Amino acid sequence: MTALARSGSAARFEVARTEGCRVFAADGRSAIDFQSGWCVGNLGWSRPEIERALRDFDGPTYVYPGHGYAPWEELARALVGIAPPGLQRCFRATGGSEAVEIALQAAMLHTGRARFVTVEDCYHGDTLGPRSIGDGETRNLFPRLGLPAPRAIRPPLDEARLAQVETALKRRDVAAMILEPVICNLGALVPEPAFMRGSEDLCRRYGTLLILDEVATGFGRTGRMFAAEHSGVRPDILTLAKAVTAGFAPMGATLMRAAVADSMLKAGAYSTYGWHPRSTAAALANLAWWRDNKETLLAHVAEMGGLFAKRLAALGLGPVQGAGLALGVRAGSGSQAERIKARCLEEGLIVAAEGDVVTLFPPLVIDEATALEGLDILERCAAG
Ligand SMILES: Cc1ncc(COP(=O)(O)O)c(C=O)c1O
Repeated sequence: MTALARSGSAARFEVARTEGCRVFAADGRSAIDFQSGWCVGNLGWSRPEIERALRDFDGPTYVYPGHGYAPWEELARALVGIAPPGLQRCFRATGGSEAVEIALQAAMLHTGRARFVTVEDCYHGDTLGPRSIGDGETRNLFPRLGLPAPRAIRPPLDEARLAQVETALKRRDVAAMILEPVICNLGALVPEPAFMRGSEDLCRRYGTLLILDEVATGFGRTGRMFAAEHSGVRPDILTLAKAVTAGFAPMGATLMRAAVADSMLKAGAYSTYGWHPRSTAAALANLAWWRDNKETLLAHVAEMGGLFAKRLAALGLGPVQGAGLALGVRAGSGSQAERIKARCLEEGLIVAAEGDVVTLFPPLVIDEATALEGLDILERCAAG
């Protein structure tokens, strides 16, 4: 019996330390991390520049949300400055689910509508709002969730699917369409740019907002700073979390157009620990690192992404999908994907599995030698 409530099997890997692209266990084992804590440690673990910023931090213990704090404004400006154009305001949150909650509420308040359009089997967080619009299997476990059931678009997300999007929107009762611009939660599924752009046009036509959830894809994961850049769509609302602090502290952020933010503010927006001063310092240090290294790192992601994709295709499993260093390979079945994941951990490699897809989110800074060492382990584990 453990006191800690958790789903899934008991952890077989008791983490003691993290460093660069590796995680070290209390029993002396170590593993190459091709999961990055699920899109959190994009710069590798223990990034020295961010560690230093936190060691040197001498700001307040805490700031009450009703007070001013100059680094909040600095961070909000910095995020708005690098995000897709048109997003002018930024709300504070403690993580991804809260960031999505804010997004859903803002869309409802702005449009006066309660329904959402999603991608089938999507995941946007564990709180009631995201669960209400999330995958049907989880939704149906609950007697009744708050929001009306979403209208879900089934992949493939190509130009032909736009007819289904239009059908879902044309009753003009949809507050927002929400999706990940590269769907990490469906094994790094990439919607076609024509689908993204067509959906944006349809949202505008029917008075529906477009929410891009970049909680997982943000900060370089797919080879661009934000995955929205692959298609050039301009969301009304964008959610961020995970890699915003490179893993050093919890944080979420919801960026939106000024008019949508004004609608949200009517209901108020309070978050006791949203943007704690130490989280804010970590995020600012992360953004400073990106400012100095963006071009070099994204070129590296392109190079490593090519190497990973080639090796995944040669595994003899199913088709490979993804962008940058968000990559998935179909393993034939969910149990086969889980088997490969478990075997990899035994052999010293951490990978993820989403449905029947083995998913890889390696640190963006991974060097070629470590990448090849991990890919060799994956090859052995996929074979038998
Ligand atoms: C796309 C997406 N949105 C939202 C969330 C929820 O984030 P958090 O776990 O920080 O609440 C996740 C978490 O995995 C996610 O992948």
